[in-house]
Amino acid sequence: MATQPITIVVLSKDLDDFTNIRAALNTDSRAKLISGGNDPEQVHEVVTQHKPSAAIINLGTHGDQAIKLIQRLNQDCPGTAIISAAKETSADLILQSLREGAREFLRLPINAEELKTVLDHIAAFSGKHGKEEKKNGRTITVFSSKGGCGTSFIATNIAASTNARTVLVDLNLESGDLPLFLGVRTKYSFQDLIAHHGSIDDCLISSYVTSCSKNLDLIAAPEEIDPVEKIKPEYVLEALQRLNECYDFVIIDPQHTFDAITLTALDQSTQIILVVTLDLPSIRSAQRTLRMFDRVGYPGEKVRLLLNRWSRQDNLDIPQVEDFLGKSIIGSIPSDYQTVVNSINLGKPLVKSDPRSKVGREIERFTQLISIEDAALEEAKPKRSWSLISKRSRV
Ligand SMILES: Nc1ncnc2c1ncn2[C@@H]1O[C@H](COP(=O)(O)OP(=O)(O)O)[C@@H](O)[C@H]1O
Ligand SMILES: [Mg+2]
Repeated sequence: MATQPITIVVLSKDLDDFTNIRAALNTDSRAKLISGGNDPEQVHEVVTQHKPSAAIINLGTHGDQAIKLIQRLNQDCPGTAIISAAKETSADLILQSLREGAREFLRLPINAEELKTVLDHIAAFSGKHGKEEKKNGRTITVFSSKGGCGTSFIATNIAASTNARTVLVDLNLESGDLPLFLGVRTKYSFQDLIAHHGSIDDCLISSYVTSCSKNLDLIAAPEEIDPVEKIKPEYVLEALQRLNECYDFVIIDPQHTFDAITLTALDQSTQIILVVTLDLPSIRSAQRTLRMFDRVGYPGEKVRLLLNRWSRQDNLDIPQVEDFLGKSIIGSIPSDYQTVVNSINLGKPLVKSDPRSKVGREIERFTQLISIEDAALEEAKPKRSWSLISKRSRV
């Protein structure tokens, strides 16, 4: 098995010192410098977001700022090994850095032997810590067996309003268009990620996602699907499990069919948001979907009904639909075509571009509701075996 890279972020006010650290790290194939800067605030942000194996903090001439950063990183990022470094510094300052949470001290300019020892220690530290640090995120699939109900719009907006590390996964593998909803250009797709099946890890994930905002990453659908390189459900399962360990929320926008990949996503979900609109074809299709979920054994509380494009002028009313489906509707997003289309054309989630709009406010409220509920459901998450999924792909 290939050794894990040691990812490193550096703080150095002094450019010569930074150049020296970078050059030394380049000589060791394990070390991967992911970011460097002279602003403690920015370094704190990068470290909390990317959780590198180590942060090298040059105590330099602004020792007090460096010590403050060490204190904060020690508290906020327990999985990152903090290494203080300095050219000529008082023993007091070095001691203080160790007391505040630095695990090692590196003398500058860096001596190759010393660096090797420190990298060995970091590798051992992250080996131990990596396992403890794994998240157990929540996976939420926004589904409708009928196209055009607004699932892509809703999945994007839920993902943008979670207030936690979130990845939105476009599993509309043949016609995904989420980069348009988020106004981003993507370099890689889900297909590129699962080409590494068998060895998908957090490093690989961070290189294949597209960052959309501080908390939100996207894994896009492929531009063109290569029919020869079929995407197998077991690869999808592996990718979703790894994503679950890296993010607080994995939000999935799948196809509108019960193909094996969609079933894998639905199985993996702690919650399924079933989107309906107040028209007969949509309600019929929701009824069929609920029956099918029942047949495959999903507990009732795993599936939540969300009404979209709701208007007072609709002939059908909510209690009638709830009666017919035998399930309560827990959110009603009003119909407002202009507002919704504007946000999509702008390439910005509505909850960010127009958070005061009725549609934006209802999605925010709904996201809060399911986030709380989902934490409780996580406890009861069924663990399904692969054979069960493949059997059911013939449903
Ligand atoms: N609450 C809403 N009010 C008005 N129009 C909406 C609403 N939600 C979605 N739409 C519109 O419905 C269309 C389909 O949305 P989309 O998210 O692509 O659906 P799906 O992914 O389910 O096929 C889009 O044109 C979108 O603007
Ligand atoms: Mg869609």
